[in-house]
Amino acid sequence: MKIAVVGTGYVGLVTGTCFAETGINVTCVDIDETKISKLKSGIIPIYEPGLDQLVLQNVEKGRLHFTTNVRESIEQSELVFIAVGTPPGEDGSADLRHVLEVARQVGRFMTNYLVVVTKSTVPIGTAVKVKAAIQDELQKRGVELDFDVASNPEFLKEGNAIDDFMKPDRIVVGTETEQAQKVLSKLYKPFTLNGHPILFMDVPSAEMTKYAANAMLATKISFINDIANLCELVGADISMVRQGIGSDARIGNKFIYAGAGYGGSCFPKDVKAIIKTAESYGYRLRLLEAVDNINEDQKKILVKKISQHFKNHLEGKTFAVWGLSFKPHTDDMREAPSVVIIKKLIKAGAKVKVYDPVAMHEAQKVFGNTIEYGKDPYDVLIDADALVLITEWPEFRILNYKILEKLLKNKVVFDGRNIYDMAEMTENGFDYYGIGRTN
Ligand code: UGA
Repeated sequence: MKIAVVGTGYVGLVTGTCFAETGINVTCVDIDETKISKLKSGIIPIYEPGLDQLVLQNVEKGRLHFTTNVRESIEQSELVFIAVGTPPGEDGSADLRHVLEVARQVGRFMTNYLVVVTKSTVPIGTAVKVKAAIQDELQKRGVELDFDVASNPEFLKEGNAIDDFMKPDRIVVGTETEQAQKVLSKLYKPFTLNGHPILFMDVPSAEMTKYAANAMLATKISFINDIANLCELVGADISMVRQGIGSDARIGNKFIYAGAGYGGSCFPKDVKAIIKTAESYGYRLRLLEAVDNINEDQKKILVKKISQHFKNHLEGKTFAVWGLSFKPHTDDMREAPSVVIIKKLIKAGAKVKVYDPVAMHEAQKVFGNTIEYGKDPYDVLIDADALVLITEWPEFRILNYKILEKLLKNKVVFDGRNIYDMAEMTENGFDYYGIGRTN
């Protein structure tokens, strides 16, 4: 079987590489020549554990190819994945320009029956538009060729993408015909053989599943953050409450960790996009509006705590920030709480020194020379007024109190992910601020 994956971003690259690993012949296509020539020479544009090795392995075995030649890759494939970006437009709705351009190219270049699958996160109703775009191009060519559109959303987590792809909780596929279902069954067989379920459904349901899944997960986070804020007022501890509710199997103990808010390229964008979709049908998703608002506020909560501790005098103060990426094991800083927090600190006249194990180069793009970049976690602590932990990288988990005390000007720690032991902090004489925890 030969397939093409158009778009070599995060989703496309992981998808193409993992399918190649099953022995399928995969061509990854992108219009970005620099990106493709880098990929050809084994340079991976994103940080994803295990991906570089897998790409190299499959390129060497001759079943993973990179090209800018869209035409050739479409002509030679039985199935095309559309995995290009859908950036949020100004009003928060997903911009489909790139997806529809690929659909047009499919219509222009296809030579045989094709299954065209949307893999990018696209609004409900996109498959219909993709189909229309392909049909339109075929009509212009004056040819009649059979094709099917399908929706196959991805549920990869950054930092764990390979494992998520290889051992999926479920594979969701929306199709309109049995023929398309057959092709996709065959393609996913290596993954379903070891018990991972594939769920076939209609196209709008598959498109909706993606948004509903991310919206549900975002809801869990905003819910727990809201309860955490109340915990502080009533003198409760969110860590206890989390365990208390999480042991109820109906609630579950995953994704109920309070923190400085959710970030990344998915949750914020998808929550906003589904709200927009609903609006376009004259319906208000009131719960998700609240989820989004709570999260915007939650990103500011650490700054609020910092301001209160320093009695609104942040001017001239220096803050050591640990962790910049929106979560550990990625260099991605899109919608990261760190961006909001650091910008606010700078605006209040403070100096910020940062350290992140992998996101330092991304931080340079965001902050330029408005902040200082440390060479290791302890370097940024020198003469800082407080430590602010934003992203819970494993290397930040064990604190050396002696060094901390020696380097920091004040014994103050703001813990945006509740990773430190509150009692231990107090025993060591530190002022400690977590999220939803009271002394
Ligand atoms: C998310 C989903 O988890 C994936 O299933 C989905 O495929 C992906 O979006 C997507 O749509 O592409 P991802 O954005 O990589 O994956 O990150 P998550 O691991 O889900 O974390 C998102 C944010 O939630 C992070 O900022 C994290 O710190 C925060 N979070 C997570 C919490 O604040 N509390 C929790 O309990 C869990």
